[in-house]
Amino acid sequence: MSKKAIITGITGQDGAYLAALLLAKGYAVYGIYRRVSTPNFWRLRALGIEEHAALTLIETDITDSSAVFALIESIEPDEIYNLAAQSFVPSSFTQPLATMHTNALGALHLLEAIRICNPKIRFYQASTSEMFGNTGSPTQNEQSPFCPCSPYATSKLYAHWLTINYAQSYQLFACSGILFNHESPLRGIEFVTRKITDSVAKISLGKIECLELGNLYAKRDWGFAKEYVEGMWQMLQYDTPETFVLATGKSYSIKEFVEYCFTLAKIPIAWENSGAREIARDERGIVRVRINPKYYRPSDVDCLIGDASKARKLLGWNPSCDLQQLCKLMLESDMQHNLRS
Ligand code: NAP
Ligand code: GDD
Repeated sequence: MSKKAIITGITGQDGAYLAALLLAKGYAVYGIYRRVSTPNFWRLRALGIEEHAALTLIETDITDSSAVFALIESIEPDEIYNLAAQSFVPSSFTQPLATMHTNALGALHLLEAIRICNPKIRFYQASTSEMFGNTGSPTQNEQSPFCPCSPYATSKLYAHWLTINYAQSYQLFACSGILFNHESPLRGIEFVTRKITDSVAKISLGKIECLELGNLYAKRDWGFAKEYVEGMWQMLQYDTPETFVLATGKSYSIKEFVEYCFTLAKIPIAWENSGAREIARDERGIVRVRINPKYYRPSDVDCLIGDASKARKLLGWNPSCDLQQLCKLMLESDMQHNLRS
């Protein structure tokens, strides 16, 4: 009989890629989405799985503990992947309570339901490199100290420790993947990589003149989402519940990402000024990038570089997509979108 997996956050970037992976492996997948005024299954459609016979979409808000309990009781899954979250860091500053409800209490509801209904269910928690914050250590692995610098990171740290605590206290197979930034053509448009690739595509097609950004000097370790969901699955197939970091080990600034994209689009740019007055002009002198301080955050993580040696050694996880390939993939996809719309 095929294994049953629940994925919370099925309408998000990782939910869609993970669903495609599990369906390809023969799982029956139960995708959890919350009610919104207009259904948002476009990512499942983009991957060609929206109508898959083994995919069942179920409306449940993970902040509703009784609904979560009923869901797990009725489906009797083998595995649960908790990907649902308010995942946009700036919104966590303006909506800290809503962020905490979903990210922290959502995980609690799931773990409690597993403990009570069936402690044999394997549980994956989507932890994040944001939990490291500005720790000061040059690279981050499973032993690095946490120093969260946003309500988002703090809410995720609660869920992370709770997962470890439930594994230890109740002998659950509950584990966390601490994933560094991972992107794709299915990335939400407000995250910086997709915002840049979409804007550069629009500039290239003459649809907009200029891209506005915040902190150009933050550095991130960016990988390809499709390769990261493979690691999530591998964690739940491992012998024991363990925390694993998934990352590429290379870090680039937002400014470097911008430069790669303009180079790929064959629009040479040159930078001028500094601070909030920094701009980039093209060869005709048109300003193509400028700073808008509204994109600065109350506090930001300066530099993330992950060390995924443990996942490589124990899981055999080995991502191959580098930043240039990722940029190309995303830019080409956004060129196609913008040509069509
Ligand atoms: P995403 O695209 O923002 O997707 C988040 C998903 O959570 C969406 O399906 C969203 O539904 C759903 N959701 C939000 N609140 C919910 C609620 N109350 N009940 C049920 N569903 C709810 O995020 P992602 O990039 O796929 O990331 C997946 C997970 O990994 C998140 O937990 C994120 O925090 C974590 N993570 C991501 C990264 C990364 O770089 N992508 C790195 C580390 C960790 P709607 O579509 O209705 O909004
Ligand atoms: N979003 C955005 N928009 N970010 C900008 C902008 C802008 O206009 N300009 C500069 N940045 C900088 C941010 O200040 C931040 O330092 C960096 O770009 C990355 O921002 P995001 O792409 O929004 O991602 P994030 O690193 O804050 O969070 C993502 O990765 C985490 C893993 O480390 C999200 O996917 C989180 O959910 C995830 O946990």
